[in-house]
Amino acid sequence: MAIYPPGKTQKDIDELYKRAYEETKIIYPKKAKTFSAKLRNLNNITLHKGELSKFTVGIMDFFVDVYSWFKVSFKKMVRKIYPRKDQIYGTKKDTYLTGKITFTKKEGKNKSISIPIHHMEIEFWARTWLGQWRKFAKGITDEDGKIMLEFDFLESKKIKYRSFYFEVHQTEHVFFDPETRKPREKVSVFGNVKIRKSDITGMGYNLGIIQLFYWEYRTDVPIPRVVIKDHDEDAPEYYSEGRNQAIAEQFVQIELIKDKHLIKIETEPEKVSIQSIQADYPKNLTVAMEEEIPGSTRCDYWFGRRMMNGMSCATFIPDRNEEGKYWVKIFGACDYDVNGVYAFPTTYGQFIIAENGLPLPVKIIIKGQTNAFDKNPFQEKIFTPADGEKWEQAKRIMRVTSALSSEVDDHFAGTHLNTEQYSIAVRRNVRLNPIAQLLIPHLKEVALINHTADSNLIGNGGYIPSASALTVEGIIERSKDALGVHDWKNWKPMKPISEQHTFAIASNLFWDIVDEFVTYFFKENEDDIKKYWYEIFCMSEDLVENSVPLFLSEQDKTKWSEDERKLNEDRIAYNHERACFDLTLPRVEYKGKIRCISPITKNKHAPAEGEMEHLKDMCKYAIMTATFLHTYVNEHQYEDIGEVLYCNLGLRFGEKEEGIFRPETDHSIFPDLTRSTQMMWFSNLLSRTEYGFITRNEGHDIHPYFSELLLAKKEEFAKLNVDVENIESRTNI
Ligand SMILES: [Fe+2]
Repeated sequence: MAIYPPGKTQKDIDELYKRAYEETKIIYPKKAKTFSAKLRNLNNITLHKGELSKFTVGIMDFFVDVYSWFKVSFKKMVRKIYPRKDQIYGTKKDTYLTGKITFTKKEGKNKSISIPIHHMEIEFWARTWLGQWRKFAKGITDEDGKIMLEFDFLESKKIKYRSFYFEVHQTEHVFFDPETRKPREKVSVFGNVKIRKSDITGMGYNLGIIQLFYWEYRTDVPIPRVVIKDHDEDAPEYYSEGRNQAIAEQFVQIELIKDKHLIKIETEPEKVSIQSIQADYPKNLTVAMEEEIPGSTRCDYWFGRRMMNGMSCATFIPDRNEEGKYWVKIFGACDYDVNGVYAFPTTYGQFIIAENGLPLPVKIIIKGQTNAFDKNPFQEKIFTPADGEKWEQAKRIMRVTSALSSEVDDHFAGTHLNTEQYSIAVRRNVRLNPIAQLLIPHLKEVALINHTADSNLIGNGGYIPSASALTVEGIIERSKDALGVHDWKNWKPMKPISEQHTFAIASNLFWDIVDEFVTYFFKENEDDIKKYWYEIFCMSEDLVENSVPLFLSEQDKTKWSEDERKLNEDRIAYNHERACFDLTLPRVEYKGKIRCISPITKNKHAPAEGEMEHLKDMCKYAIMTATFLHTYVNEHQYEDIGEVLYCNLGLRFGEKEEGIFRPETDHSIFPDLTRSTQMMWFSNLLSRTEYGFITRNEGHDIHPYFSELLLAKKEEFAKLNVDVENIESRTNI
């Protein structure tokens, strides 16, 4: 294959791309009916085969639907009959409730210090014998988590009151009024304590220390994650109704296709092939292009174009020795735990920027194991376009290595895990400060989807450990390392290297919009942001102290061999450049580890000079990561890993001496049939079920100004192949 397929030009491919894009782009269906076949929520999906028959599932689904409908309707009815009015009963404040709220997890020597939860919304309610709610007091905990709710003693002793409740509230969702742009919060009861009427004596009532299991950090992984005990019943947050509805509407067909394949693979494997699996799923971009012009997605032009602007959106580093040439570096297995079934070599691609502004590959170096026999991790093979079939295979190896790196390092760690650590720090600490209203709409739901990814994508039995070289331990270690180059401070989007570098140009355009929006929000809310600075101080402490160590900072560099030193220094330099990580900044050391996230403030009660700017930069970074950066890698999965033979997450070594250097017709090195259908299932799941878009603002949870700013640039983004209407407001798939 040359730069283009025989007899074709760039114009042919570009026009074909536009047609295929239109043909295969994802269109979101109309709403599902109340009792139609659907999935309850994202946590109900499974990579494996459903164990019950379709009929049984249908019957059970129906009853679950009916039950859910009655439960929701009953709750609505109860709320209508027994409204909870915001009116305080009683006029005096001659007695009180006191106590303290703390997190469950303790800190310090011998884990003896309870960490107080500041500024939690607290209320004291009575219920009458007829079930009516009467509010007696409301307030917040102070900075030390202390409770002080004063109320009218004589009012509480009236015969009509049967029982009393102390309640702790949390903000569940933030909404914005489209006219006034003012925020409104949906608050829910996080926990309550029942108090007997006889215990209210007029002397004041001490609730003691109430330990809330509230957005607690996990201790079983070296990554800042939140504990989710039970996704459906005891989670720190829940999906919005619209998000659950979207998964119900968009994914049931894909589930059925995958289940059908898994049954057939078990019973009649001879009747299943990679092609037949592929044909059952909706056509993706590369399949549609290949149908019309064979070779259009395997040629050098397409390889360079996708490496620059596809799912990988690689970083092009100028070659120090050869002017006009660039390197893309995809680091493979390195020293992470691997299973020995799949290849994951490091690949270096050298490119020139052609006259059309797009990169053309001129050399590929493959470093590492490529067959089952020679396990030397530092062996190198060099290929150029003159190598014919081997060059084609080298391109595929780089494409596959890049897909796995993109999935684990950029998508999962760089956006999902990166966003979750901001989400936890905000939820644990920011309540009265308007920063909560700015950030919660963009940080919500990520902890939930990451919890689902633990079982379906990265954990034992998940897709990546079974269909790629990385084991579960390998993924966790790699994710921790990948996070170690992400910091909000001094971050900027990738610099474009040509006019065709659409990913980088679009990133900068979006970054400018985020800047305009966040600057506006800060101006509108400056006084309250400063007034509740204590919350920012606590958020900053949580963020920094729970962040992972600086990339490779825990390794003993004196023990590196010469080969390891060269490789690791290369990884450090490239990954810092890729994540725009400023190594010159001083770093905080906490519990013997150099932390990768910079503090926002060192002051408890007021920002020092420059610290408002720090907070603004952190907010911009968190929004950028949760929205544009996640959407880009997420939605391009469907295009770039939606055809098994074009790209996947791991080529198998097989039993031949050539290992992974085999033609596309040899399916023995590709994922097996089970992994093939699971791969199609998962790329469809992740790209096809998005919900919560900035401009569509389906849940009225996005600041209208942000939506307006983005919509105003619709045409500019369209020229960069970015549809602004498809940019998600949060990372929830
Ligand atoms: Fe995602």
